[in-house]
Amino acid sequence: MNRLHKDLNTLVDRVEAWEHGRVSADPYRQAFHLMQPCGWMNDPNGLCWYRGLYHVCYQYSPFNVAGGLGFWGHWSSPDLLHWQQQPVLLCPDQPWDLHGVYSGSALAEDDALYLFYTGNVRRLGDHDYINSGRGSNTAVGVSRDGVHLDSKKLLLENCDYPADVSNHVRDPKVWKQDGKYYMVLGARTRDGRGEALVYAAGDPYHWEHIRTISTPEPFGYMWECPDLFRVDGQDILAVSPQGIAPHGEIGQNAYSCGYFPLRGDFRGDYALGDYCEFDSGFDYYAQQSFEAPDGRRIALGWMAMPDSGCGSPTAASGWEHCLSVPRELHWKDGRLTALPVRELEQLRVNERAVVFSGSVRQTLARAADIEVEIDGDRFALVWEGAAAVRWENGVLTLAIEEPAAFGRTARKAAIPRLHTLRVLVDHSSIELFANGGERVMSTRFYPQGEHALRLEGEGRAKLYDMRAMETKTIQTGAR
Ligand code: FRU
Repeated sequence: MNRLHKDLNTLVDRVEAWEHGRVSADPYRQAFHLMQPCGWMNDPNGLCWYRGLYHVCYQYSPFNVAGGLGFWGHWSSPDLLHWQQQPVLLCPDQPWDLHGVYSGSALAEDDALYLFYTGNVRRLGDHDYINSGRGSNTAVGVSRDGVHLDSKKLLLENCDYPADVSNHVRDPKVWKQDGKYYMVLGARTRDGRGEALVYAAGDPYHWEHIRTISTPEPFGYMWECPDLFRVDGQDILAVSPQGIAPHGEIGQNAYSCGYFPLRGDFRGDYALGDYCEFDSGFDYYAQQSFEAPDGRRIALGWMAMPDSGCGSPTAASGWEHCLSVPRELHWKDGRLTALPVRELEQLRVNERAVVFSGSVRQTLARAADIEVEIDGDRFALVWEGAAAVRWENGVLTLAIEEPAAFGRTARKAAIPRLHTLRVLVDHSSIELFANGGERVMSTRFYPQGEHALRLEGEGRAKLYDMRAMETKTIQTGAR
C-alpha cells in the first residue's frame, strides 16, 4: 500500500501506545463490547466473514475524543469471543478521501476482500456543505489477506449521482445476488428528502444507478447507513433516517435507526411496509448486518446517538463510545426480532437462580447476563441510584437517573404482555431484549461502585456474571 497509509498507521500506533494507560484504567471500559483503543468511534463498518475470521471494522478517530479525521479501526475473531486488534484498514490517504474514510461495507469474494466506503472531502471556502462544498466519493479498497490493504480505487463522484441529490450521498452497502453485485447508498435530495440509491454491477468496479427507493411521503431529510438484506425469506430495507417527525414511539431520539419490510423485488415492483425501529432505547444507531458462515443474519449497531446531547464521562479518560453486542435477527410474526448471538453465553459464569415474589435484592457483577420469566402484570428491575426497568400498564420503561445518566431520562415501549426479559449489563451499558427479542432497548449509563439490583414482582430469574472477552491489542510497532 502507499507510503501515506503506512505512515498514518505508524501515527495511530503511537497515539494508541501514548493513550493506553489512561484509557485502559477507566472504570467504564466494557468487558464484552467492542471498543476502540483510544479516541472516538462510531458506526460498525465492513462486517463480514472472510477466510475463517469474522471482521468488524468501525469508524475510528484516534486523535480526538470528539470525532475528527476518520479511519477504519479493525478487529478480527474466529468465534466472536476472542478478538485480535488489526492495523487500521482504511486511512484517509487519497485526494478523494482526505477528510475521512466514512462508513461502508465489505464484500468477501474468494480472491479478495472488497471494502466499499465513502471518501469524505470538505472543500475550503464559503459553503453550506449540503448542496456545495462536500465531496462524497464512493470508493473501494481491496485486501487479499483481510488485514493489509493492497489497493484503492475511486468509483463514483458527486457528478455521477442522480442530478436531484445534494452533496450528501454515503455509506455504500454491497451484496451479491443472482450473480450480480448490488449497492445501496444513503442520500439527501436537494429539496431535503431522504432516499436510498440502488446501483448494480457485473464486477466490483463498474456501477450503474438502477433505481431510487423512497417513501411516497417524505420520511426525514437524510437516510444514513442503508442496508438491504433478506432474513427468513423477508426482504428488509434498513436505514438510519434523520429529520423524521416523532410519531407514537417512533422518533424518541434525535435520529432514528430502523427498517421497512420490503415486499416484492427491489429491482422491479416493490412496496415498503411500515417503518419500525430496531431499538427503543437511547443509544443505538447506524446498524449494519452481515451473513455469518452458518447463515445467521447478524447485526451490530453503534451504541450512541449523534446530536443526542447525552454526554459520557469517558471522554475525560481519552475514549468515547462502543458497539452493541452482535445480535441475531429473525423475521417473526410480521416483525424483526433481535437477540444476542448465542456465543456470548460462553462468557457466563457463577449462575444463580432466584425465585422472586415481592422485592428481592441482589448484588450483581459489573458485567452480567440476566434472564427473567415474569408472572403477573407488573415487574421491575432497579439498579439503586442508577437505572430502573419497569413494566406496568402494558408499557416497558427504561429510566436512567443522574448521576449515571449524563442527560438520559426515560424511554418507553408498549408491550401489552411481558413474558421474558433478557438483560445484558456491562460496565457502562444496558441492553434489554423483551419477549424473545420482539422489542429491544439499549442505553449507555455510568453507575458508580458495585451494582445493587432489586427485582420486583413475581417470577424466576437466572443471574450470571460475565467474563470479559479476550481482546489482544497490537504490540507497538508491529503493524
Ligand atoms: C453515521 C455517519 C455516516 C457516515 C459516518 C461518518 O453515524 O454520519 O453517515 O458515513 O457516520 O463517521
